[in-house]
Amino acid sequence: MYQESIYQFLSQKINDRKIPFNEEECISFLMRVSSNFDVIHQLYLSLYHNHPKRGDCFEALTEILIEGFQKRSQALRQLDIQKKGVTPWFTRSDLVGMSLYVDRFCMNLSDLRQKLEYLLDLGVNFVHLMPLMQSPQEASDGGYAVSDFRKVESRFGTIEQLEALIGEMHSKGMYLMLDIVLNHTSDQHEWARRASAGEQQFVEYFYMYDDREIPNDFEKTMPDIFPDSSPGSFTFDAQSGKWVMSVFNSYQWDLNFTNPEVFVRMMEHILFYANLGVDVLRIDAPAFIWKKIGTTCQNLPEAHTILQLIKHCVQSVAPGLALLGEAIVAPAEILKYFGTGSFVGRECDLAYNATQMALQWDALATGDVRVMMAAQKELLKKPFGTTWITYTRCHDDIGLGYDDTMIQEAGFQPARHREFLKEYYSGKFPGSPARGALFGVNPKTNDARISGTLASLCGLEFALEKNRPEEVDLSINKIILMQAQSLFIGGIPVLFYGDECGYLNAYSYQKDPAKNYDNRWMHRPEINWEKNQIRKKKGSIEHRIFTQTQKLIRIRKANSIFSDTSNLAWLPCHNIHVAGFKRYDASESIICLFNFSANKTGLTWFVLKDAGWPEQTKIRDVWSGLETEVGKDDQHLVLNPYQFIIFVKI
Ligand code: GLC
Ligand code: GLC
Repeated sequence: MYQESIYQFLSQKINDRKIPFNEEECISFLMRVSSNFDVIHQLYLSLYHNHPKRGDCFEALTEILIEGFQKRSQALRQLDIQKKGVTPWFTRSDLVGMSLYVDRFCMNLSDLRQKLEYLLDLGVNFVHLMPLMQSPQEASDGGYAVSDFRKVESRFGTIEQLEALIGEMHSKGMYLMLDIVLNHTSDQHEWARRASAGEQQFVEYFYMYDDREIPNDFEKTMPDIFPDSSPGSFTFDAQSGKWVMSVFNSYQWDLNFTNPEVFVRMMEHILFYANLGVDVLRIDAPAFIWKKIGTTCQNLPEAHTILQLIKHCVQSVAPGLALLGEAIVAPAEILKYFGTGSFVGRECDLAYNATQMALQWDALATGDVRVMMAAQKELLKKPFGTTWITYTRCHDDIGLGYDDTMIQEAGFQPARHREFLKEYYSGKFPGSPARGALFGVNPKTNDARISGTLASLCGLEFALEKNRPEEVDLSINKIILMQAQSLFIGGIPVLFYGDECGYLNAYSYQKDPAKNYDNRWMHRPEINWEKNQIRKKKGSIEHRIFTQTQKLIRIRKANSIFSDTSNLAWLPCHNIHVAGFKRYDASESIICLFNFSANKTGLTWFVLKDAGWPEQTKIRDVWSGLETEVGKDDQHLVLNPYQFIIFVKI
């Protein structure tokens, strides 16, 4: 179909619906859709050309796009226009995020409205609300087992309250991120229940088999995601007598995206979220959405095709909505979620910088930044116009998923190196102040990830337990160092709630049968607002962590140079303990240096020449406020244990 005919075809469809519309907006929608339509059609056919329902489902998809546009409110259409710019809105340095569970942070959605001032006071203006939609409490995976995509879990509130919250956030200049859990539904979702009852239409929504033959074939090459609590990738469903694919927990049934009807129905949910006013849609576990026997069933090319298809549909209907692909996979694989080939920059707008996150923990444990440095060549390939979510940790475990070659390049032996990190963060390594736990231990592969709050992993729990004030100071310095690097490196920094007040691990989850099989709950705190009030008491731990976090955020927001325009250059520090980079624009630059070791260490002042500051005689560290004379090339600039510096020219 050529452009003009697509335009005519769609405008006829809009007219047939007899819904009043604003002509100018309608034209701009038609322009967007008709210019994306060919691509949408091609991508769709590349997945579904052999499927008997391909025609009907494509027709349905077209209707959904039109309906999505017609249901988009005037206010959101205005926001779409405002968000347009030369550089994408989500790359700006004035964005700082926090991820939180509504019920554990406060109580419910209406209470959260009262807490927006707290977030704004900290400097947070981008909020990721952990899954809110209906999910069986006893088998919920923290809300990632959704039983109704459109109904807010009643203990949080209602969809109307969610909309009101979003409206209020927008009026305060805040942004919202929500999840779409695309890969699976709860076994209590209507589709799963009808499949279990034998309705063929819904059996085809999942991967269901009468015997173990195909499941066995799949499992030969599929790694276990939760090897200790939910081994294997299939679950026997007694009602249907079938084996159902359940890659994550046994109660999370994988949707079958080889069926175009599944794609279309999930696309409808995506546009529903778009029209609630969501600014960033976090696509949960996209690496898993396509399965093929004989593969790991992760990162398959068709998974990328689905994401590209989603991107082009969203771009047509709700151009202000950005997409985040939650792909916590190997570094080179993560980068592919920004699109490859002719789709570079046309897939996900954001991805988690999970590699950098884990490498910060690597450097903190070893006091050595060489593995972090070895990874940067890969990470710098991120396309212009896309950005990262940067973070020190989130609701999930910390996986050590970077490449063996990166560890080798730094001069370490990969298996032994990872072993050390696991022992260090679980507190088993002699002298380690970290208090974490291993998650997802797989005796077959010797793999394990790490659970724990930022503060506990940085040694605060240990220091308080032993009542050692100097270790408390050290742990706070580590916390702030970790946050600083994630705030200045580029991308939207997303803090995890509780970390701004130094929450320690909580072990009460062990008594809850709905949670005790999953130690990620140790680092998902229940906020005690009396404790958070202590942040106002000068000298308290809460005050020290909160105010320093607040100050980091202020510095980031005050310097547009921290916006992500692919303006990051790593510096040769010639010191294995210090990571340094320059952020720059056409006229200015800022130098950031981070000492990850427990010792004082020195860099020669030549580092400034390497950074392209040849003539500088005086500089200022905006973190400490101190001004310094620049020393001679062979003299040393000294950094204290876990100190970082943010140098500007004066
Ligand atoms: C994502 C979520 C994680 C969840 C999984 C399954 O990785 O972040 O918490 O367990 O998906 O939905
Ligand atoms: C995610 C990641 C894995 C993570 C898990 C949830 O999708 O692949 O690293 O640990 O699911 O915990």
